[in-house]
Amino acid sequence: MTSREVLARELSRARDRTLRIVEFDDAELRQQYDPLMSPLVWDLAHIGWQEELWLLRGNDPHRPGMLAPDVERCYDAFANPRAGRVDLPLLPPTDARSYCATVRDKVFESLDALPEDGDEFRFGLVVSHENQHNETMLQALNLRSGPALLGAGTALPAGRQDVAGTSVLVPGGEFVLGVDAVTEPHSLDNERNAHVVDVPSFRIGTVPVTNREWTHFVADGGYRDQHWWSDRGWEHRERAGLEAPQFWGADGTRTRFGHVEQLPGDEPVQHVTFFEAQAYAAWAGARLPTEEEWEKACAWDPVAGRRRRFPWGATEPTAALANLGGEALRPAPVGAYPAGASAYGVEQMLGDVWEWTTSDIRPWPGFTPMLYEQYTQPFFGGDYKVLRGGSWAVGADILRPSFRNWDHPIRRQIFSGVRLAWDV
Ligand code: AVJ
Ligand code: FE
Repeated sequence: MTSREVLARELSRARDRTLRIVEFDDAELRQQYDPLMSPLVWDLAHIGWQEELWLLRGNDPHRPGMLAPDVERCYDAFANPRAGRVDLPLLPPTDARSYCATVRDKVFESLDALPEDGDEFRFGLVVSHENQHNETMLQALNLRSGPALLGAGTALPAGRQDVAGTSVLVPGGEFVLGVDAVTEPHSLDNERNAHVVDVPSFRIGTVPVTNREWTHFVADGGYRDQHWWSDRGWEHRERAGLEAPQFWGADGTRTRFGHVEQLPGDEPVQHVTFFEAQAYAAWAGARLPTEEEWEKACAWDPVAGRRRRFPWGATEPTAALANLGGEALRPAPVGAYPAGASAYGVEQMLGDVWEWTTSDIRPWPGFTPMLYEQYTQPFFGGDYKVLRGGSWAVGADILRPSFRNWDHPIRRQIFSGVRLAWDV
C-alpha cells in the first residue's frame, strides 16, 4: 500500500468512528454533559473546521472558507473555552454533518491529486486530530448522567492473576528519546527530535495499578492522611472532596458510560488526578516515573541498542497486543497482553489507561512547532503533567511510544491511571 492509500484508509477509519460517536438525535448532540466538556456537536464541526483550514485553506484563516466568519469563529478552541461552547451559535447537527462531509470529499480529491513528493504530514495531522477528539467525545459521554446510551463495550482478553504489583528492572544507561521525521513521518512536533538521554537504573511496574490495589489505599485511609500527599495535592483533595477515584460508588460499584457495575478488581484504576496518583505512589513506597523512564521502558531494546517502533516490535497494533480503538469502553485486566510486552518485559504500556508521569510538558531539543503551531507550544511552562501510553480510547492509527499527552494535575475525567516506579 502506498502512503497515500494508508492515509486515505486512516482518514476513513477516523470518520467512521466519529460518525458512530455522534449517532444520536440533535437534542442529545447539543447537550453539555459537564462544564469541562464541549457539546458533541462542537467537536464534530471543530473536526471539520480544522481539516478545512489545514488541508483546503493552506492553514490561512484569511482565505475564505465554507462557513460564515461568525460561525467559524465558534470552532477556534483557543478563542472559546470549553465551558462556554454550548452557548455559541453553533451549526445545527445536520449542518455540522454535511459540512464535515463536504470538507472530506474535497480532501480526498486533494489527496488523490497530491504529487509523489507532496506534503503528507498535514493529512496525518488531521487523522491524529480527529482521533484525539474522538477520545474527548468519549470523555464527555462518560460524564452524561441517566441511563446508558452506549452498550457495555466489546469483549477483552482475560488477565493473569500473578502480575499485579510486580516490577521489572531497567538498568541505567543511555537510550534514544523521541523520534524524527524520517523514522516516524507522522510524529507530532513535541515528539521530535530524537536525542540521546542517560537514564539511571530504576524499577517500573510490570502493569498499571489495579482497582483492587487502590481499594487497599482507600481502606487504609489514604485519602484522609495528609502524609501521603503533596501540599498542592492535599489542598486540592480537600477543596474537591476527593475520597476515591471518580465514578466509584460507595458500595463497591462504579459507573461507566451510564452502566453501574461491580468494580473489577483486576482492571487498571481509571479516573484519578495526578495528585491522587502521586499520593498512592507515596503510600505504596514508590513514585511515579518520569517520561524519560517511561519511554525507555516502553521503546528501548537494550540488546539491539535501538528503539522499537512499538513495545513488542515492528508490527502494527492488533487486538492481541493492546487495547486500543475505543470499542471496549474500558481498560483490559492486567496481564491481558503478554505478547505486547516491551523488551524489558513491561506490559500494557500502549492502550488501557493514560499513565501520569512526574514530568511537565516541555520541548525536546530542536523543537519546532508544526503546521498546527498552537498544538503544544502554548502549554510549555504551564501547569500540566505529561501522560503517556494512550488509553483504550486512543485510535491505534495515531499512537506511538513517543506520543505525549498532558493535562492539569487536577483533571480526572480523562482515562488516566497509574504505573509505579522505584529508585534502585
Ligand atoms: C493533546 C489531548 C492535550 O485535547 O487539549 C485537540 C489535543 N489539541 N485539539 C487537547 C487537541 C487540539 C489536546 N491534548
Ligand atoms: Fe482540536
